[in-house]
Amino acid sequence: MTVQYQFPDNFWWGSATSATQIEGAAFEEGKGMNIWDYWYETEPDRFFDGIGPETTSDFYRQYKEDIQRMKDIGHNSFRFSISWSRLIPGGRGEVNAQAVDFYNRVINELLKHDIEPFVNLYHFDMPKELQDIGGFENRQVVLWYEAYASVCFELFGDRVKKWFTFNEPIVPVEGGYLYDFHYPNIVDAKKAFQVAYHTMLASALAIRAYRRLDGQDGQIGIILNLTPSYPRSQHPADVKAAHTADLFFNRSFLDPAVLGEFPQDLVEILREHDHLPVVEQEDLTVIKENTVDLLGVNYYQPRRVKAKEHTPNPDSPFMPEWFFDPYEMPGRKMNPYRGWEIYEKGIYDIMINLRDNYGNIDSFISENGMGVQDEERFLKDGRIEDDYRIDFIKGHLTWLHRAIEEGCHAKGYHLWTFMDNWSWMNAYKNRYGFYSVNLHTKERTPKKSAYWMKEVAKHNGF
Ligand code: BG6
Repeated sequence: MTVQYQFPDNFWWGSATSATQIEGAAFEEGKGMNIWDYWYETEPDRFFDGIGPETTSDFYRQYKEDIQRMKDIGHNSFRFSISWSRLIPGGRGEVNAQAVDFYNRVINELLKHDIEPFVNLYHFDMPKELQDIGGFENRQVVLWYEAYASVCFELFGDRVKKWFTFNEPIVPVEGGYLYDFHYPNIVDAKKAFQVAYHTMLASALAIRAYRRLDGQDGQIGIILNLTPSYPRSQHPADVKAAHTADLFFNRSFLDPAVLGEFPQDLVEILREHDHLPVVEQEDLTVIKENTVDLLGVNYYQPRRVKAKEHTPNPDSPFMPEWFFDPYEMPGRKMNPYRGWEIYEKGIYDIMINLRDNYGNIDSFISENGMGVQDEERFLKDGRIEDDYRIDFIKGHLTWLHRAIEEGCHAKGYHLWTFMDNWSWMNAYKNRYGFYSVNLHTKERTPKKSAYWMKEVAKHNGF
């Protein structure tokens, strides 16, 4: 294989997953109920094909074989999340010994195969008991999250050296409090900003706890889904619309995580519309002093916007969309199987922004991937021929490579995801894995992209 795009030594090649999406055993071995278990139990029809989080690829039981499969395709790193409600069933209080044993076995198995565990503490899965008292709307839950994070560091931090406080903290805010696609399906911008703010406080408190503990010498960060915000034109009204969208959807989390403060322009907008969250003064010092060491970037698609065509009705509920309209750029490249735009250069623009405006913080692509509905149609001789996914990854890696050549501190690339998994409301609609999974037999089969990735990892490039 001739290598045209050679990546830096020790580049992280791997994939990302989350507990609720892969573990299964949702009601077994002492696990407590989280909001997904509950929502499925009460409103199963909301989920694609009526499939809920108890039907997964069963990593809980097949983790050993799966880790061997990771090794087979050249992974040197792998992200999974700890399920808060498995480890501490009620969200606070007693630790479940069976969960400790499970996560210890997973971590040890990964290390045995020279695969570095990247551990995320929270992937959309609030314990139900804590959601009942308001979830992250409630300041007390922030403190229980800090306690949970500390338990994880103490139990596993001797071996885990890459920690992440949250995955895509904006998603539960959007889904749960603004746009009604996640539990608790409330539509209330004031609550949304409170939850967003408390989440960033929780992240900073966990980082502080990590740094205060003896013997914790790894890196701790956060994983954000960044959507570069592009204006329809260079007209000042379009540019302003894109700037405001960037404030709401990227900088609201990126600035406090990396720079330790919220963007002043955003604070002013919220103040003007009477939507500032309740803040205790000393929190801002905690946020300032506990920024991340490492940033995970999930990148799927950009956000294209234009100036608002109609002034919003001041009596309608306050929303970020008061400040911009979506823009469907003619001729943009689409993933026809998922409906998301594919814009590979977005990955480069994100990296250059981190280099120029965020102190060139160490980062990596923590998710990027191509969801495909009805992927079985690409089955040939027992294997899914996913050339479209290989092209997708290549296109993004090419731009990532260029960003690295231009001095960006990008350290790795993780695909979403290792094997086809259950995904929130969409259940098994969109398939993303290197491995396909037969939902009935749980049999895993490598797709063509898995073989391709093996070569990429082997040559540290392509
Ligand atoms: C990412 C999330 O944003 O998108 C994952 O971190 C999720 O948890 C992935 O599975 C794909 O989402 P979907 O809706 O296409 O299955």
